[in-house]
Parts: sequence; C-alpha cells; structure tokens
Amino acid sequence: MLPHDWSIRIPLSEKMPSGAGGGYAACGIGWYRKHFDLDPIDRQAVYSFYFEGVYMDCTIYLNGERTGAHGYGYGSFYVDVTGKLREKDNIVAVRVNNSAQPNSRWYTGSGIYRNVYLVKKGPVHFGNFGIRCATNGIFPEIKAANLQIRSMVENSTEKQKQAGVLHKLYDRSGELIFSAGTAVSLEAGEQTDTMCRPQVENPHLWTPRDPYLYTLESFCLLDGEIVDQVKTQIGIRTAAFDADEGFMLNGKPVKIKGVCLHHDCGITGAVGTRELWERRLRMLKDMGCNGIRMSHNPPAPVLLDLCDEMGFLVMDEIYDEWMLSKNKNENYYSESMAFGASQFFIRDSRKELTAMIRRDYNHPSIILWSIGNEIPEQSSVDGSRIASFLQEICHEEDTTRMVTCACDNIMAYPDIRTKREFEEVLDVVGYNYVGRWRERAETFYDEDRRLYPKRRFIGTENPGAGGIRGDYQTRGGMTGDYRTVMISHELLWRYEASRNFVAGDFVWTGIDYLGEAEWPRRGADFGAIDTAGFKKDTFYYYRSIWNQDDITLHLLPHWNFQGEEGHYKTVIAYTNCQYVTLYLNDRLIGTKGYYEYPRFGAVRSWTDGREKNPTTNDLHLAWDVLYEPGVLRAEGFVDGRLAAEAVVETTERPVRLIAKAYKDTIRIGEIAQIELYMEDKNGRRVPDAEPVIACEISGEGEYLGMDGGNMLDLNMFREKQRRMFAGALLCEARGMKKGKINLRFIADQEMEAEIEIRVTE
Ligand code: GAL
Repeated sequence: MLPHDWSIRIPLSEKMPSGAGGGYAACGIGWYRKHFDLDPIDRQAVYSFYFEGVYMDCTIYLNGERTGAHGYGYGSFYVDVTGKLREKDNIVAVRVNNSAQPNSRWYTGSGIYRNVYLVKKGPVHFGNFGIRCATNGIFPEIKAANLQIRSMVENSTEKQKQAGVLHKLYDRSGELIFSAGTAVSLEAGEQTDTMCRPQVENPHLWTPRDPYLYTLESFCLLDGEIVDQVKTQIGIRTAAFDADEGFMLNGKPVKIKGVCLHHDCGITGAVGTRELWERRLRMLKDMGCNGIRMSHNPPAPVLLDLCDEMGFLVMDEIYDEWMLSKNKNENYYSESMAFGASQFFIRDSRKELTAMIRRDYNHPSIILWSIGNEIPEQSSVDGSRIASFLQEICHEEDTTRMVTCACDNIMAYPDIRTKREFEEVLDVVGYNYVGRWRERAETFYDEDRRLYPKRRFIGTENPGAGGIRGDYQTRGGMTGDYRTVMISHELLWRYEASRNFVAGDFVWTGIDYLGEAEWPRRGADFGAIDTAGFKKDTFYYYRSIWNQDDITLHLLPHWNFQGEEGHYKTVIAYTNCQYVTLYLNDRLIGTKGYYEYPRFGAVRSWTDGREKNPTTNDLHLAWDVLYEPGVLRAEGFVDGRLAAEAVVETTERPVRLIAKAYKDTIRIGEIAQIELYMEDKNGRRVPDAEPVIACEISGEGEYLGMDGGNMLDLNMFREKQRRMFAGALLCEARGMKKGKINLRFIADQEMEAEIEIRVTE
C-alpha cells in the first residue's frame, strides 16, 4: 500500500553506505508495479499521474514505455500520460534509484513515500497548480480586503476556444462571499493566465491564534458547461518583514517562536500521514510554538494543510545544497564524492523551485520562501549570482512573499565567511546559529544591526533543547546535562525577546529525527519531542516561555533515585508562574521567583509611554535538594494567588500496563497510534519503567512497529517486541479494511493490556 518507504523495513547496519547522515539505513534500487483498468477511457480528456514525492531519481514507465523521470527526492511532479492509457490492464512501473550513497545528511527513506494520483481533466482545463490566490491588501478603514486570483487555463484541443473562469468564495459556514469571473480566449494548444481582483467585505483574517479558512471554488467553463473545477482552502492575511518591527502579520508585529522539522515520522520513516502529523503538531501548538521551518526541503502537502488549519507560520525551503555538494557524514564541505540534490541542481533548479512555489502558493501559513540551508556557495564568488537567480524565480512566481536563505557563516573566519554580496541579495537575511562565533556571543545580531540598519533579520536556525527523554545523568557533550541543556536557548531568547527588529527564530529542532547520527545511535535528539511523539522536559521550558495563554509548572527530574540518598539533586521548575515554593515530603525547601515578571519578553507592554520587553536573567528556577524518597511538591503563584501545583513522587515497582489510543476510530489507510505506560500499585505512572513489550495484532490492521524514542535501540521498529523507554512506548498500526484491529500488549511476559481500534470507510 502506498505511501511506502522500504528503508524503514530493513535492519540498520553500521556498514550501510548511507552512513551516519542517512541513519545507517538500507537504500538501493526499488521497483513498484501496478495493474489497473480505465474503462471507459475518455478520449477527449487529458490524463496525468501526480506524484507528491519519490525518493529519489525515479523513472516512470507506462505499458512498457518510458513516460517520465524525476531526480530530486522532495519535489512534487506531474507526468503527462494522455493518449498512452488503454482500457484494460494498464501497467505502471516506477523504478526508484536511491543507490548513489551517501546522498543526504539526514534519513531520507526510499521509495514512493508520498501519495500518487491519476488526474483526469477536460480538454480545456486549469493547468497543474493552476489557481493562485493571494491577499492583495487589507484595508481596515473600509473593513475590506482585496484578493488577487490568478488562474492558468490550458486549451489542449486543436481549435481556438473561448473559455470562462468563475471563482466562488465561501466562508466556514458555507455562505457565499463573492462570485467573480473573467473570460479568456485561447488559441489551439495555448496556455494563458487570467486574473481577477475581488474584494471581501469584513474579512475574517487568518492568524496563528485564529486560523480562519475560506473555501475558494474555481470553475473553468466552456459554452456554459463546467469542464474543470478546483477547490482551494485560502486564508486572508498579509505577511511582511520589516527592518525595525520584525515579522508583520496583517500589519501587526508577531514574534516567530519557531522550530525546524525534518520530514520523517519515526516508526513509519519517510511516510508522514495527516494523523501522524496532527498528533505531533497539536503538541507543538500547546508548546506555544507558532512557526515551522520545513528543513531543508518541500514538505508533504498534508503537513502544509495542517499548518493552515492549526495556525503555524511556515518557512518553506527548497534545498540543503546547490551545485557544491556537502559531506553527508561530517556535516560540511565535501572533498570526496557525495551525491544528493546537487546532482540535479543545474538541470532542474528552476523547475523544482517553480513547482514548489506554485504547489504551495495558496497556503496562508507560508510566510517566507527559503532558497537554501547553509549553502556552501554562500562564501564563494558566484554564490550571490546563484542566490539572485533563485530569488528572482521566487519573485517572478510570487510577488507577495519575501525570500531568505539560511546562512551559517555570517561571522565565520575570513576564508569561509558568507560574502556580503550574498547577504545583500536576500530580502530577509537568515542567520543560522548567530551566536556560534565567539565574537557574537550574547551580542547576537547587534553588530549587523548597527552596520546594516535597513537589513531584515530572521533566525533561520538556532540551538534548541537536545538531550534524551528521561535521562538525568549529569554529563556533558552531545547527550547533554539536564541542568544546563536550555542555557543557550535562554540566552538567545532573552536577547530576541527584547529586540523587535529580529523577526524571531526557528530552533533546531521541534522533534527528534532519524539520521544525522553517530553509531550506535540511529538519529539526532535535538528535539523538544522524541521520534515517538513523547514530550521531553525541555518541551515544558518552551511552553513556559512561548505559551502565554496557559500556566506551566513542570518539575524535573523524576524522583526515583533509590540508592542515592544523601546526595544532592538539582530540581528544576520550568514555569511561567511568578514564584514557586518547593516542598519535599511536606518540608519547605524554599521559594524562588523571577526578578521581573512577566518575563515572556515578546509581550509588548507599555510603561511610562515607553515600549518595554521585560526579561530576567534566568528563564527557569532551580534548587539543590538532598535526595530522599517521597514526594516533591511545588506550588506556583501568580499575583499572590496559587495558580498551579506540580507533584513528582518516588514510585514503586510497575504492576500495570496501560494502553491509550490517540484515536480509537480510524479510517481505512489511516494509522492508529497507541501510547503505552506502566503504573505502580498506587496508580502512579512509573517514569523509569523499561519492561520488554510484546505486541500481538489481529483483525483488519497492518502492524507498523513500536518506538520509545530511544536512539540507542537499533532494532527495527517493525519487530513485534521492544523495550519501553523511560516509561513510555508508542505502537502504530494501519487500518487495512473496514472492521476492527485488536492489539494485545504483554509487558515482561506478565502484565497485559488490550485495545480495540475501529476501522471505518
Ligand atoms: C545545522 C544544519 C542542520 C543540522 C544541524 C545539527 O548546521 O543546518 O541541518 O545539521 O546543524 O546541529
């Protein structure tokens, strides 16, 4: 069943040519074949296949004839098959060649990992990605917004045609807002654009808080008959970047509190369906995150749909490399041969970038195009020319959005420093790791702001959380120390929160991802959430800073340190309460609070007529506590009132297995997500339980695997047995037919839990 990723079904090995970058995954060459009838064929119609993404370098054959090919593994593309189909037994075959390795700095997956469609259109029709609707201005004085709808119409007949284009806009309740049309005259075989500029009265604007969507229905008419129709979700909003005010949505400044995301979804590898992303994005939303950078490639269309619906500000990115390829295993310039997007850059970059912009144009969530990430050419003489070439394509295709490129070497040593000409090309200058170079530490963007007062700044990538969920050892290095893991982000946030000119930033990363690993690890744990979708403590750090609507009071570590009695443990509270009082076994440990409150920073408050962005030194509270088993309890206060309480208890041995479905009813083809936990005899969740869980499945489901987010667990996700990690494990199964999926889990061969998932049509 498609979508499909074969790499995730093969055991990892240190010897795999995909290497550290590709997460030691098996790649190689794969073939897909499908037989289908098309009875009756419409001889007037135009047919094509639409592939949302194939990794990578694929060739498409229809009935034995080569009909198309595509290189870049993240581009969506059409293959015209008009006149090549027959009524009975068509055979489509796709050869996918992911054998040239290494070709990526992260896990790519292999195969047809996104949806495929057979598209049929009348002889006069809208072109592919043919409707482009944008907000052309919002006018609060007259309570109106102007839209600009451009439609590409094609005449595939051999005669001249007069066609009509009609657009109807409906609000969320289904009420018709306007109906607007244009006429177009087309020569035989001609393709042309038409434009109309309807006005919407009392527009309901799209914002991350209130992501209001309208439905645009566009009809192509011939002799009064509808010959093609397209439905598009749109949002009314303007998006711009300002040198003084940062990012402006609908004319008002909004600080971007963003995360970078790679495309994999853990257990399913490169397959990322709506329900998988929905569970993850809900968490990010609750964290207070309002922005997502699609690093470093065009995402699955469904992910952008969700961003529109849930309200995220998206930076949509095309490439991780241009002509110069990167070293896939050491994260930089390549001396040895390396494959990847650069193989196709000269031939395909115009086509790929154009397709990305046309495909994604209508998403209100997208506020910025990015032409690349840490592109080696940023410091070479022809870099600025390539940047101009790509930025111009963006401008030609879209006059409403600005363009950036994520530069990591703006303050680097002279031989690798980003060329000033390169930076000057960009509408918005993207800074990766602005504080990385010592000269910049804690002054971040200040020097460039002084040198280039007209520059627009965005933090395209910055250090995030990192670390292993539930790991409270106090060692340094890549795996982090729970006491200090957020320090670099705290520094950056204190800075950004008090500087309006910085649009905000995207931390690396929101969620852990496969690849960019180091044996014996399978992936990178820079996320606030692990690959299985379980929250790390740092999730609550962000929530305490970014989510200004809800109270956060989160205590860490757990309190199961049997055998360490009499040793000091650092207890941390991530909180947006004003002060917090901590007790151990009902004895007062102490009260700590923030010097200045609120300390959210990005809140604009007005004092004495001056704008103020308050921050304090620390963005967390900490106590050193002598360990003894029992109950740690914290009370959080706001304005002198108890606002929240948090409890962490020493637990006993796990005696019960709990299974909880994200949704107990799914549709055919959707994926059920079941979370597993252990409880002790008092019903307390055991945070360090790690029993071996076996899964038995029956009914109408395909077992996909289990994951606890442990990067050191190199067993295949698909194995039916896996060790729980830090008290949690996720199981996934796909609904195959209408009916039920029955799942039985057994922990350490003695504790059982069962769950039933309904599968509907
Ligand atoms: C950045 C890069 C990311 C990722 C990250 C890991 O420099 O843009 O793709 O490699 O480093 O720290």
